[in-house]
This record gives sequence, C-alpha cells and structure tokens, in this order.
Amino acid sequence: MKAMSKAIRSMFDEVSPTYELVNHTITFGLDTVWRRLAAVFAARKGGAVWVDVCSGTGEMALSLRHFAATHTRVIGVDFSTPMLKKAASKSEAGGVLFMLADVKTLPLRSSSLDVLTVAFAIRNLHMSKRALVGTLEEFHRVLKPDGLFISLETSQPSSKLIRWLFRSYVKWLVKTIGRTISSSSSAYSYLSSTVLRFYGAEDFAEIIREAGFSRIRFYSMMSGIVAIHEARK
Ligand SMILES: C[S@@+](CC[C@H](N)C(=O)[O-])C[C@H]1O[C@@H](n2cnc3c(N)ncnc32)[C@H](O)[C@@H]1O
Repeated sequence: MKAMSKAIRSMFDEVSPTYELVNHTITFGLDTVWRRLAAVFAARKGGAVWVDVCSGTGEMALSLRHFAATHTRVIGVDFSTPMLKKAASKSEAGGVLFMLADVKTLPLRSSSLDVLTVAFAIRNLHMSKRALVGTLEEFHRVLKPDGLFISLETSQPSSKLIRWLFRSYVKWLVKTIGRTISSSSSAYSYLSSTVLRFYGAEDFAEIIREAGFSRIRFYSMMSGIVAIHEARK
C-alpha cells in the first residue's frame, strides 16, 4: 500500500471512536437523512448484490440493508479495521457482510454487482482527476451491465454567498468541532481541506462520465453543499 493510503488509513483508525459523533454534530444529524435518501435511490434498482465502498462505521451499508429486499446481499468494504469493527459491533450489522480491502483494487469479480455506493469518501480517495477516473473505472469494472453507481458527497454551492458561508463553516467550525471531539487536529484539518478542494457537481459528473459511466444524473441538496450522483454502467 502506498504511503498516502497508509496515512489515510491511520487517520481513520485514529478517529474511528468518535467518527459518527463528529459527523452528526457538524451536519446537525442531516448526514443520516442524506444516506437514507441515497439508499432509496439504490432500492429503485434492486438486484442481488449491493456493495458500499469506503463503508467506515457502516452507516450507509446499514441504510442499504434497511431498504434492500431480503434476498439482496449487502456488503461493506473498507481498509480500516477499527472502522469496520465499529460497523460490525452494531446490533443491526448481522445482515451486512463487512470486508477488509482497499477499494482501489476491489477483490470482487468483474460485472458482479447490481449497485455500488460510496458516501462521503470519494474525496478521500483522490483529488487528481486522473486518479479519480482510475478508481471510478474500478467501480465500473465490478458493476454488472446497467449496474447503478451512487455517490453521496460534499459539493460546491454555486451561489457565491452560500459558498463563502459554507467554506467559512468548514474552515473554522468543522475543524474546531472535529478536533475537540476527536482530539485529532491533523485528521480534521485534512478532512476539511478535502471538502474545500473537491469538485462541483457538474465537474464530478464529467469525471464519472470519463470513467465510462452513462445516464449520469445528480441531485444537489442544501444549496449545493451536498450532492447525490447516480450513473449506470
Ligand atoms: C469519511 S469516511 C466515510 C465513511 C462512510 N462511508 C460514511 O458514510 O460515513 C471514509 C472511509 O473511507 C475509508 N477509505 C479511504 N480510502 C480507502 C481505500 N483506499 N480503501 C478502502 N477504504 C478506504 C476510510 O477508512 C474511511 O472509513
């Protein structure tokens, strides 16, 4: 594993005990609502196998489980053992299989998934467009033809005023709240910097297209602070 991936993994290992509390605090609990909405989108596709990559403490995977048919297998993949341990310790986690793996090279057969989701994590994988396309190509590989890709991620508001408010909130408050609750100053400096640098919804849709997906649609929420992208293989 490359040095950058190792550093990111150690950072998530370190913040795992307080990861959910920080998220719920900085989003006023809305992160849960956004994941549920993304899971509703997945449910429209149906199918036999759904995978949530960068599953962390399993909140997205458990939302998927909630909306999936009983016969649908739901799998959560992450490379941080402490994050996955938290996921697996939840009472509802019995219906989800958690796998330890690097999502840049998924240990899954080509054309084997009906749905692949990624929530609040794509911006932790890469910032460079070329590298992002590479990982999205890996997600494309494991989906069945017509399989559904769903990304839930922070975005960039188009209104200058909202963008300024959002960026100020992330720069000053998110960093401070994250540091205070988690006691890790470096993790929340890094995480807030990725929120500030990530692509706007139109640009991210173009990156998804470059990775080979089609029928790309996105839904901007909260004045463009957060977006759900969906695309088909
Ligand atoms: C910000 S958290 C998001 C967790 C979860 N999806 C959520 O909705 O809260 C990012 C997660 O991605 C994982 N991650 C980052 N890079 C990864 C990689 N290359 N392979 C597997 N997991 C990765 C981290 O361990 C962490 O659990």
